[in-house]
Amino acid sequence: MGKIIAVHSYKGGTGKTLLSLNLAATFIKRGKKVCLLDLDFRAPSISTILKIEKTEWWLNEYLNGTCGIEKVLINLSERFQNKGEFFVGLANPATEAIRDISAKDRKWEMRALGRLLALRNSLLGDRGFDYLIFDTSPGLQYSSINAIVGADLVIVATTLDRSDVDGTRRMLGELYDLFEKKTEIVLNKTFLDVSSKAKREEVQTKIQEIHNAPLLGVIPCFCDVLRAEGNIVFVHEKPEHPLTKILDEIANKIESMP
Ligand SMILES: Nc1ncnc2c1ncn2[C@@H]1O[C@H](COP(=O)(O)OP(=O)(O)OP(=O)(O)O)[C@@H](O)[C@H]1O
Ligand SMILES: [Mg+2]
Repeated sequence: MGKIIAVHSYKGGTGKTLLSLNLAATFIKRGKKVCLLDLDFRAPSISTILKIEKTEWWLNEYLNGTCGIEKVLINLSERFQNKGEFFVGLANPATEAIRDISAKDRKWEMRALGRLLALRNSLLGDRGFDYLIFDTSPGLQYSSINAIVGADLVIVATTLDRSDVDGTRRMLGELYDLFEKKTEIVLNKTFLDVSSKAKREEVQTKIQEIHNAPLLGVIPCFCDVLRAEGNIVFVHEKPEHPLTKILDEIANKIESMP
């Protein structure tokens, strides 16, 4: 059976979407069958990054119970032309859809959780996906908590920004522990020196001390990633880029997890 990975964070802009997409691309390169779901209903971005302007059915409808997941998934395997298979399910970026989902009550969210949990059987089971990756909203939104509940592994993207460090620490101590989730940290956008193995180990000790949680990877702040303005999937288009290599190491670690 495959694995469900939720990519979450305390603060916004920590690199969840970048990580989700590039991790998906890394697994596809390895011949895996991957499904990436945009569960960031407050600020959907995968449709923009992948330049998919129109689709008949969104994940919003799936969670609403108005269509099955088959209708929502878009097959992008051809575009990525790798060994694996790649499907995405998108959140509707229309203002009306964002307002609509923001107004949902607790009862709706509970039903949505049921439908999210059902994906384990339908996608990992029946459809044979190796990885299901959830890109989430930052913080403690219902949709993010649902994603965490539904995941086998939670990757927490964090920076060394003070409020991010504090918030992440609280979430690690309260939220993820509460659901007994396997949680790993990715330190992103760092300016710490990670050029040598010794330096990397130093950073690792520091971060693990701060958060008391395992560190899955450290990603420097790359000017060219910023400059690309979300137009490039680095792992796909820049195989020699250091970001691609870091994602490769992260994927190795995930693949070796029980
Ligand atoms: N390591 C990095 N180096 C440079 N820029 C980065 C890095 N990681 C992410 N970025 C940039 O930071 C911005 C935010 O990244 P991204 O959208 O992936 O974050 P996010 O956590 O998904 O944000 P949100 O919470 O709004 O969904 C993007 O412009 C992205 O290209
Ligand atoms: Mg995002």
